[in-house]
Amino acid sequence: MIEKILLLFSWAILCQGYDLTKPVLKQVVVLSRHNIRTTIRPDLLPKYSPKTWPEITQKPGQLTKKGTLMEQHMGEYFKEWLDSENFFRPICPDVDTVYLYANSMNRTVQTAEAFAEGAFEDCYVPVHHEYSYEKMEEMFRPIISNGTAAFKNMVFNEINQKLKDTKLKESLLELNEILDIKFSEICKTESICDLSDTSKSKITFAVGRELWVEGPLYVANTVLDSFYMSYYEGAPLKDVAWGLLKTPEIWHTVTEITRKDQRMRYSTIARDYGSKLKKCITKIMLNYAEMPKFILIVGHDFNQNALTTAMDFKPFTLPNHYELYPMGGKIVFQRWIVDANEYLKIEYIYPSWTQLRSGAKFTMKSPPQRVVLELKWCKADANGFCSWSEFIRKLSAMQ
Ligand SMILES: *[C@@H]1O[C@H](CO)[C@@H](O)[C@H](O)[C@H]1NC(C)=O
Ligand SMILES: *[C@@H]1O[C@H](CO)[C@@H](O)[C@H](O)[C@H]1NC(C)=O
Repeated sequence: MIEKILLLFSWAILCQGYDLTKPVLKQVVVLSRHNIRTTIRPDLLPKYSPKTWPEITQKPGQLTKKGTLMEQHMGEYFKEWLDSENFFRPICPDVDTVYLYANSMNRTVQTAEAFAEGAFEDCYVPVHHEYSYEKMEEMFRPIISNGTAAFKNMVFNEINQKLKDTKLKESLLELNEILDIKFSEICKTESICDLSDTSKSKITFAVGRELWVEGPLYVANTVLDSFYMSYYEGAPLKDVAWGLLKTPEIWHTVTEITRKDQRMRYSTIARDYGSKLKKCITKIMLNYAEMPKFILIVGHDFNQNALTTAMDFKPFTLPNHYELYPMGGKIVFQRWIVDANEYLKIEYIYPSWTQLRSGAKFTMKSPPQRVVLELKWCKADANGFCSWSEFIRKLSAMQ
């Protein structure tokens, strides 16, 4: 008995009330996608369907008000989570402990600013970016650098193979009906009257450019992009795809197009695309001791796709969402200490499909979605922890 009391006593003195075995969060590096934006090519939509499209007043590709709000909510959630881990000093973090960086597109800069407003309200935490406005920075651009014939052949074969996918065909047939494409202008002028006829696709591969697949798939993606935006922005369902997308089943069917497109255009080629960003993240990780405690980098879905491919993440699925890399979704690298051992944990933190539409606020009690991710080459335990030293050693060898 006395031993037990003594043990408790010395335990409390030694550790000043802290539980030594409680994991301590030391460092966080985030690669985020921007939040809800307006559709990129609204100018093309009228020729894809004889029906009337919703009016869009904001300029294309810009963060919407709702997107700003949702990202503030994300920031607030991160603050609550990090505070619960005693991560920052109370009130405002020291300037050199936080670094926010965004691609120089308006939507990515504004996403980082909105995050900062939520996470560091009333604190001085600037957002850094290379150019003033609306310019893709090199590190974020999905451009081809490997121009060898072998690589090009691999990419072409892969895409041609994937274009023949039967599930993709099924989704494209559904979209034909939704659009009534037979009566569209594009059918009359460019003879694209059936989106499922993917043999009409034209692949453009050029060093220094983005890989481009023109034709039915491009049309389908542009259309879906506008449906997503209407849905997230909270338009009445009768105005989202003319009320033709109601059930989860039909959403699942048509959104297969976007998922397939991401997997198609960013598979083999993602290694090439992701190499610059991977170098940057690798540098941050290898020099972690000199790096700020919290780093946020804001880019695009294709950056997340390219990075997870280039870094050999295990394949993962995100519950409660149709997009592979949702609006405001974040790959969150975390360095933890447990009992003097260091670990890496990676999570994908994102608003669900319905949270985006409803404009949900996030708290620890009603959190955004959190999914543990794993690298193929650093085995994670049940808590998602893989050995930090193993991670660093292998990462260093990969350079
Ligand atoms: C990008 O943001 C700047 C500054 O807010 C603004 O002046 C410019 O019009 C924006 N560009 C577009 C295309 O909306
Ligand atoms: C280019 O791609 C080929 C074929 O996949 C590959 O063997 C080669 O290593 C790549 N070159 C670079 C610089 O990545």
